[in-house]
Amino acid sequence: MKVNNTDFNKTNVGEIVTLNGWVSKKRDLGGLIFIDLRDRSGIIQLAINPESPAYGTALKLKNEFVVKIIGEIVLRENANDNLKTGEIEVNVTDIEILNESSELPFDLNNMTALEDTRLKYRYLDLRRSELKDKIVLKHKIMQGAREFLNKNDFLEIETPILCKSTPEGARDYLVPSRVNKGSFYALPQSPQLFKQLLMMSGFERYYQIARCFRDEDLRADRQPEFTQIDMEMSFVSEEDVMNLTEGLLAHICKVSKGMDIKTPFVRMSYNEAIGLYGSDKPDTRFDMKINDITEGFKNTDFTVFKDVISGGGIINAIVVKNGADGYSRKDIDKLTEFVKTYKANALAFLKYNGEFTGSIAKFVDEKAGNYLKENLNLEDNDLILIIAGDYKMVKTSLGALRLKLGKDLDLIPKDKFNFLWVTDFPMFEYSEEEGRFVSCHHPFTHPADVDNLSDKENALARAYDIVLNGYEIGGGSIRIHDPKVQEKVLEALEFSKEDAYDKFGFLLDALTFGAPPHGGLALGLERLTMILAGTDNIRDVIAFPKTTSASCLMTEAPNEVSAKQLDELHIGLK
Ligand code: AMO
Repeated sequence: MKVNNTDFNKTNVGEIVTLNGWVSKKRDLGGLIFIDLRDRSGIIQLAINPESPAYGTALKLKNEFVVKIIGEIVLRENANDNLKTGEIEVNVTDIEILNESSELPFDLNNMTALEDTRLKYRYLDLRRSELKDKIVLKHKIMQGAREFLNKNDFLEIETPILCKSTPEGARDYLVPSRVNKGSFYALPQSPQLFKQLLMMSGFERYYQIARCFRDEDLRADRQPEFTQIDMEMSFVSEEDVMNLTEGLLAHICKVSKGMDIKTPFVRMSYNEAIGLYGSDKPDTRFDMKINDITEGFKNTDFTVFKDVISGGGIINAIVVKNGADGYSRKDIDKLTEFVKTYKANALAFLKYNGEFTGSIAKFVDEKAGNYLKENLNLEDNDLILIIAGDYKMVKTSLGALRLKLGKDLDLIPKDKFNFLWVTDFPMFEYSEEEGRFVSCHHPFTHPADVDNLSDKENALARAYDIVLNGYEIGGGSIRIHDPKVQEKVLEALEFSKEDAYDKFGFLLDALTFGAPPHGGLALGLERLTMILAGTDNIRDVIAFPKTTSASCLMTEAPNEVSAKQLDELHIGLK
């Protein structure tokens, strides 16, 4: 078996070794030839003298040729501290070319190629240590998860990929059935119902590193197929699931990055998160919270604010500390354009320097001024950015602006990992698209108060999300185990009994045969890996990812299929 080339060091000097790998770089010093030989573990330097019997072959080598070499490990004249093997090199006496390489479509040592080109030749891009290291990190995270969960008495159980289409939020990927004409399977959006059924089968503690498929609009942190570290437990409370998840994440961080993280994690209610950060996944690595200043303008003459307040709206502000100097009118116009994409009509601003200047300064009388000074803890040269309107728009747009400013002004420390629980989620949210209330998590989430489901805007769920540095890296809940409660929730979601039975009668039946109380959580493996790897591109942590239009540039999936295949599936294209 081949050993890692980088396992050798100066204790091996004098040994004759056989190494395999790729020619990563070749330097011909007009006599002496140096080669960076690369294998999975990294780089080791080869030296080939003109006197060496391997010299003729060395002259022929080009980048990415695959070679087997024999040589003696010697000390280097000038050590290279950046390499694990930097103190040694191999004096080569024999080279066998195992395979040649065509001219590469891009230079692996100088990454200027467009991402599309790199995705087309993904197998080449994966040779670069920047990408390879992330795949290795993901491996360690998966193994760490398995280790921890096995130790905690969980069973790894697989669930089907060909499933029944059930409503869980996103659009399903459908697979036509050849045998059952006109019927379709759905690929699982998550193993949610199966893991609940496993609790009803009495397995008590389940996990799976589960592939999930969702046909939704893709973003930098979303892929059509992704992986969850999926768990479910019987006879547990929220506290049990949260404690276990904290232990799991602490173990994962330790084994994958050698990092100690502090538990228990900070907790914040959903309302607090939206109120202070304008997001249910707040990035708490920097401050700049959202302040409600409605009270300070309750007697204002400014008609815009007056109308907002009388219409039940709010006036909120964020403060850019020491930012007044740095933002010109033009800069603020740009920020205004930015918040308009979040449906804000306008962005008012004030600059404080003992007194107020700015777009609404003339409406800041002494009383309002004192209110702002006190409530916003103003200091000279502070910039105050203000949005007025309905609650949701104000919070969302200021939340987005806060994140933008955090990035623009470099306020976010890169080496911080802020784990955070967001709790007390709403049970329902209004869907404009469907014209009715839908589940905020999924229809199997236990309500906080079973007897108070009619107030749909305020009903809370026993659900919790785990957030890391502004990303939702996981979510879960205590589930409904009482069929009567499940019925009530489905009723509140306006499912007719027939419809509910048609869609997930198997679960409703199972609840009637002694279902244990249960709950769980799923971590998004790629999102967790992304953050631990320090990238904001989810494709970086997937060996063969899809583009934002859900295609694979390497294999050219999805593709058209033959008329014969369609015919067998009883499908005619529109
Ligand atoms: P949820 O839908 O919140 O919960 O998913 C759990 C976690 O999976 C990750 N995730 C994604 N990652 C990449 N691409 C996507 N398209 C994508 N969608 C979700 C997120 C998310 O927090 N069955 C429930 C879990 C439970 O209740 O136990 C579920 O799937 O990090």
